[in-house]
Amino acid sequence: MVEIENLTKDYEKGFWKKKKIRALDGLNLQVEGGQIFGFLGGNGAGKSTTIKLLMSIIFPTEGTAKILGEDISNTKMHSKIGYCPENPYFYDYLKASELMNYFGELFGLDSTERKRKTEELLTKVGLDEKDWNKQLRKFSKGMLQRVGLAQSLINDPEIVFYDEPMSGLDPTGRREIRELIAELRDKGKTVFMSSHILSDIEALCDNVAILRKGKLVATGNLQDLLNKSGEIQEFEINVKGVTAKSLENEISKISGATITAKPNGANIHVTNENDIETVLQINKKTGGNLVSIQPVKQSLEELFVQETKE
Ligand SMILES: Nc1ncnc2c1ncn2[C@@H]1O[C@H](COP(=O)(O)OP(=O)(O)OP(=O)(O)O)[C@@H](O)[C@H]1O
Ligand SMILES: [Mg+2]
Repeated sequence: MVEIENLTKDYEKGFWKKKKIRALDGLNLQVEGGQIFGFLGGNGAGKSTTIKLLMSIIFPTEGTAKILGEDISNTKMHSKIGYCPENPYFYDYLKASELMNYFGELFGLDSTERKRKTEELLTKVGLDEKDWNKQLRKFSKGMLQRVGLAQSLINDPEIVFYDEPMSGLDPTGRREIRELIAELRDKGKTVFMSSHILSDIEALCDNVAILRKGKLVATGNLQDLLNKSGEIQEFEINVKGVTAKSLENEISKISGATITAKPNGANIHVTNENDIETVLQINKKTGGNLVSIQPVKQSLEELFVQETKE
């Protein structure tokens, strides 16, 4: 669906445009169809730059990319893709329904189809019907985000590119958009999305790529990445009826173990499965009761922090 080869972008800086900053540095990436692909990286890592290059809004310094087998310079393929930018910005004096109609016209839909699509999509993104005929300048950030997502689907695209699709949305809005994105995949569409909201990425994405300072630092199946980097297995033991203070001394003798106080009890982390038994004995001796033992899986947040730090 997307093939990126050595994609590089230098921005020119300063009055004489002599200084260059490399925002994207030799990116190679393949995205297969029918999945939700998460594009991650800290602020300024080059996510928006990549997406804008793919959309031919800016042009590469080096490298090439293809979408649906077509070179990105061939904008004809845009009829089969959808895009919602990081901060959607539309004509302020258009109403939401007029904007949808306008985009529908650009894609050559007839008027009945435009009307049907406008109603279907504005409903789908959860925009209140009373706001359909309100001018966009009166819209909040979250409402604009919803319109941005609605317009990205007007041409029934095969693949959509979303730059921070959940930004500006309240928790209900986030859930709705999450469902919308999952539904796109169920329909066999491909979603390429950047996001800072890692819980959304974790809940939605099949594969991810992580960028750091314009370079790819990790890519692959999300679960594999989490398992691989989670080789040091941790276990959490929850106990009650004792204080962390009363266990602390004995627990500190176990290498790699940590203890935190909890209301009515304590949480003990061990990095070796064999230490669980020792902890249970200490707990029993001190008069505590066991509540639970569970393996701790590395979260995407930990992976993200690990991969994006210097
Ligand atoms: N038009 C521009 N002119 C000069 N530098 C730019 C321009 N746009 C982006 N940059 C620089 O390119 C780098 C990558 O920016 P980009 O917007 O792609 O990051 P991002 O990963 O989308 O970050 P964020 O998570 O904050 O949205 C940054 O160092 C940024 O300062
Ligand atoms: Mg960005």
